[in-house]
Amino acid sequence: MSKAPVRCRFWLPPGVFSWVGKGNIPIVSLSGVTKVYPPASVALSDVSLELERGDFLFLIGASGAGKSTLIRLLYREEKATSGRIVVNGHDLVRMRAREVPFLRRQIGVVFQDFKLLPRKTVAQNIAFPLVVSEHSPREVRRRVALMLEMFGLRDRAGALPAELSGGEQQRTAIARAVVGNPVLLICDEPTGNLDPGTAAGISQLLEEINRRGTTLIVATHSEQLVNTLRRRVVVIAGGRVVRDEVSGAYHTAAEPEPVAAVAGVIAPTGVPVWGTRAERAGTGAGRRKH
Ligand SMILES: Nc1ncnc2c1ncn2[C@@H]1O[C@H](COP(=O)(O)OP(=O)(O)O)[C@@H](O)[C@H]1O
Ligand SMILES: [Mg+2]
Repeated sequence: MSKAPVRCRFWLPPGVFSWVGKGNIPIVSLSGVTKVYPPASVALSDVSLELERGDFLFLIGASGAGKSTLIRLLYREEKATSGRIVVNGHDLVRMRAREVPFLRRQIGVVFQDFKLLPRKTVAQNIAFPLVVSEHSPREVRRRVALMLEMFGLRDRAGALPAELSGGEQQRTAIARAVVGNPVLLICDEPTGNLDPGTAAGISQLLEEINRRGTTLIVATHSEQLVNTLRRRVVVIAGGRVVRDEVSGAYHTAAEPEPVAAVAGVIAPTGVPVWGTRAERAGTGAGRRKH
């Protein structure tokens, strides 16, 4: 199952090391992070958290706990008030505004309301991050075809978002988020607007994306999702991390009981298999925020 770590015999630029080898390489590191929205809304308070490449982490917490804020800090939609955040080797506190698009090409984001472009077809939505980052039309076609196939959307390629079911919209949003081969995929309540039956279908997709080497953070209320996949669970409450388990389960109780870890193996790691090395290192073009 496990692949031997890739060893470098020659010099590579620093960013390249972000994907070399497996495990033990922090891809997300937060230390003592506090976020205060002006004038005085404390959304996160002294949060420290580390994710290694290939991890699959569920972020759980009641509405208003700080999940979306944490996510927005990771792709630099918001800046931390204090503390340190490093994502794939980038220091987000020191990062200049002009470097932000470069960071975002390495991160895929799926929003609760999917944010699909209403006047573009499924294929055009998926292609969008590649088109804005100036991939060749041929490469765009190739990658979009790959995504349509992988996400079971081939028959819906020409449909507009309004013509899709909730599950199809969700799959389109995820396909768009991963078409640029991100090292990190963040989903903010991806099943929030779906009925439980449709929501259940997402677990296999997320597993597959993770199996291909992409690190995942999934903020969710879905008990089913967490309990099916049994991955690392971080619970936040009132802007603080109150629980962090390698292989946890969802608790509906107000005071979560600790759970014995089951077969505490974090996801097998690797690198995303559908991109070039340069892209996986973040040096190629990928998605952009839109
Ligand atoms: N843009 C904002 N301005 C002021 N307060 C905000 C803003 N966004 C979120 N908050 C506050 O920060 C806290 C955490 O919100 P959020 O991160 O959205 O939580 P969650 O995603 O877990 O529901 C809440 O108290 C919320 O009201
Ligand atoms: Mg939220």
